Amino acid sequence: MSKVNIRKSLFLSLFVLMTESTSYASAPDSGELLHRENCQRCHQAEVYTRPDRVVKNFPQLKQRVKQCELMNDLMWFEEEVDAVSSYLNRNFYLF
Ligand code: HEC
Repeated sequence: MSKVNIRKSLFLSLFVLMTESTSYASAPDSGELLHRENCQRCHQAEVYTRPDRVVKNFPQLKQRVKQCELMNDLMWFEEEVDAVSSYLNRNFYLF
């Protein structure tokens, strides 16, 4: 490969990386996706809005998300627990 070709392919892969991260940023919120794919097997959103809901503040919400996540063996990173907690807070709990 000539020097020019190497530079060209470096430029191209950089371009691909950049466009990929752009499309990731404009994709639906990761918390929403994670929730849609993993959390609606046992309960629908009603549990988050029912009058006698268990969760009373944001730390409790995070703790509960973690419990349900562990119960499901999802092996989420802290970032994923955070993303789903924020998603639930923004859309249902509003703490
Ligand atoms: C294996 C079944 C199951 C799955 C899957 C599950 N949960 Fe739960 N979840 C429960 C049960 C059972 C409760 C308690 C419901 C009750 O108290 O009536 C609950 C309650 C909750 C609550 C508290 C609701 C309240 O009263 O305020 C939150 C928040 C929650 N789940 C989040 C999640 C999230 C996020 C996921 C996905 C990671 C998830 N759950 C997946 C079983 C599950």
